[in-house]
Amino acid sequence: MKRIAVLASGNGSNFQAIIERVRDGAIPGRIIRLITDNPGAYAIERAGRAGIEVRVIDFRSFDSRSDYDRVLEQAMDETRADLFVLAGYMRLLNDKTAAKFAGKMINIHPSLLPSFAGLHAQRQAIEYGVKVAGCTVHFVDEEMDSGPIIIQRVVDVAETDDEDSLAQKIMIHEHQALPYAVQLFCEDRLRINGRQVQILKDAE
Ligand code: GRF
Repeated sequence: MKRIAVLASGNGSNFQAIIERVRDGAIPGRIIRLITDNPGAYAIERAGRAGIEVRVIDFRSFDSRSDYDRVLEQAMDETRADLFVLAGYMRLLNDKTAAKFAGKMINIHPSLLPSFAGLHAQRQAIEYGVKVAGCTVHFVDEEMDSGPIIIQRVVDVAETDDEDSLAQKIMIHEHQALPYAVQLFCEDRLRINGRQVQILKDAE
């Protein structure tokens, strides 16, 4: 059983999707802790209901970014997790932390990367006028919304879509893609070769 730690800053609906796939046995792992930078995150309620320990590291209580980064890295270390899942964690990790957990940290982003990295990806997609959009689950590296891609899911963009309706469409796929990537990781079925991620049919 893999040890999974989740980092989330807000609502935590992706976190919830993982909780449910662990509960129904699809993910052979255990969520050992939620780490959040936001004491007001609804994800904290979700963790409470699921009996998952929470570590709050309130970003605003730190004088400097480097103090926050140090405490966060320590908190991540303490979990001894096999996998760290960024599920709506809205801060960039510093290079040192990203490098330290390379190959064992994944992120969900609501666009078809490398298009529309960064904030408000759905708004960027609408403004650009793309006809398809989607979500990407990828390993985390030192750059923002970069790193080898594990899964992408595509949705059609309708002429009537706005940022909110597109975000809702994409979210349905996020809630499937992220738990599935967690499942594949926990089943030891992901191999990183440079930028490519190979998905093995069966665990080796
Ligand atoms: C999701 O759209 C995710 O892709 C992005 O932040 C949002 C988090 O939503 N990184 P939630 O907190 O999981 O509901």
